[in-house]
Amino acid sequence: MTNDDDQTNGPRRGRGPRSVETVYMEERAAVMQALPRLSRRGFMKVSLGAMGAAAAAGVTINPHSFQPIRFVPGARAAEPGAAAGDVGGGGFRIAYISDSHLYKKELNDRFVRSLLRAVDDVNAMDPQPDFVLYGGDLAQLGQPEELDLGAEILKSVKAPLHVMVGEHDWYFDMGERWRRHFGDDNYSFDHKGVHFVVINSVVEKDFWTARGMSPMERMKTVAGLDNGKQSSFTVGDANRAWLAGDLAKVDKGTPLVVFSHSPLYKLYKNWNFWTDDADEVQALLRPFKTVTVIHGHTHQVLTNRIGNISFHGMLSTAWPWPYAPEGLPEMTIQMNRPDPFNPEDGCGDGSVIVHPDGLVDKVYGLWNRNPMTVSAKYMTSGGEADRPKVPNAKSY
Ligand SMILES: [Fe+2]
Ligand SMILES: [Fe+2]
Repeated sequence: MTNDDDQTNGPRRGRGPRSVETVYMEERAAVMQALPRLSRRGFMKVSLGAMGAAAAAGVTINPHSFQPIRFVPGARAAEPGAAAGDVGGGGFRIAYISDSHLYKKELNDRFVRSLLRAVDDVNAMDPQPDFVLYGGDLAQLGQPEELDLGAEILKSVKAPLHVMVGEHDWYFDMGERWRRHFGDDNYSFDHKGVHFVVINSVVEKDFWTARGMSPMERMKTVAGLDNGKQSSFTVGDANRAWLAGDLAKVDKGTPLVVFSHSPLYKLYKNWNFWTDDADEVQALLRPFKTVTVIHGHTHQVLTNRIGNISFHGMLSTAWPWPYAPEGLPEMTIQMNRPDPFNPEDGCGDGSVIVHPDGLVDKVYGLWNRNPMTVSAKYMTSGGEADRPKVPNAKSY
């Protein structure tokens, strides 16, 4: 460690070079002081810390991206005439942020910084996306303080925001706090000729009552990756009935994009990279000509195609999961192993370009690396054409 600070008298601000630790502690203090009342001024102060971290990693963020906050709580449709996300030829772009896993700010501020970095990313997009999807797992242990903190930060997203639930948001109070912030866990909306569905796919059978578990014990069990106690995720009878009713009103030629937290297929059961009633859900989606499922939860570049349904995972802002030991879909081009010395490597956010025919290009905005695009052409050719390029890894 190189440190020119006087360890007994605290850091010597403004006098020559400062250690990495000192800079970190100063940025941390700025984050913590600004969070209780995240006004625009406070957000800018906090974001400047995140921008500093990004700049240190060689990432450029447009400092002119900051605009007055416009939050659309539980937005159900993009603003009329919102042409900002147009990509030409009638297509448009949306953005996503997912899986931030916020703890109470006293316990962990790194994940707070990462979510702020993602918010900066999407706010800097020019043109702005038509809307932003938050993909679930905003909280780590479903605590009211975690969800309140996340909701406060998400108010700073400039574009209209749609929020999806993850299991980490839900199993402390069975969604009570999350619903208070964000509304229904199942909803749909139409945008520029595409039907979008947001669905809760993390419904578990009751494993807690018979075991006499407290809410926190239930939450911690669900939060564990490989504990053997929790049941598999499902969309469940009630949500599937809602989905069937919603889709019954939509013409089968209308492009369909479904946002779910868990992948709507069966990948690796022990980690709940799995949706137990995926076959029934896919049967509801299959009659549509063009279907895309965008999901969170797996924290990695993940690509699958089953029949006419394309599946794309989202990156996490908090950490990348390793790939499951078996079941990885053939279409997946694996992202690089993250640099263990850089806690933000393997994390990121991204966007989705929706073409006029409803097919999508999925863009993985991996932090500190070049973006990776999984194109519609790659998907519809069954992996024969337009193979995605894996972002180069620096040697380490
Ligand atoms: Fe997650
Ligand atoms: Fe999750």
